Amino acid sequence: MPFIQWQPDFATGINQIDSQHQKLVGMVNDLYEAMSRGEGKDALGRVLAGLVDYTKSHFATEERLMTQHGYPGYPAHKAEHDKLTAQVLDLEAKLKAGKAVMTVQVATFLKDWLANHILHTDKQYGPFLLGRGVR
Ligand code: FEO
Repeated sequence: MPFIQWQPDFATGINQIDSQHQKLVGMVNDLYEAMSRGEGKDALGRVLAGLVDYTKSHFATEERLMTQHGYPGYPAHKAEHDKLTAQVLDLEAKLKAGKAVMTVQVATFLKDWLANHILHTDKQYGPFLLGRGVR
């Protein structure tokens, strides 16, 4: 059983976003699996760096769609993205410097953040953007 499993409830109805979310779910699983295999700091750092890069590009996609279509929830949504980005960059720096280690708690934080953000924040723009023809 994967660490985090894609659920139909995660779907926003916007294909490009749902594909990106599925990829993020897969990347959180990859991180957890690398950690469970006992991979070293450098290998875990590379997996985390890939997840951070893809997350940034995913956030940029959503932010572009929200601003292009004048989504009213944009400022609060952007603030959630910025907060998570800052937290993950801080974690990445601490891991690199040997001031933190990758733990189940860290992976669980990422898993829970992703699930909660999709279910409670991303899904709110679904009907709005679909109503403006975004697919
Ligand atoms: Fe899918 Fe707002 O991140």
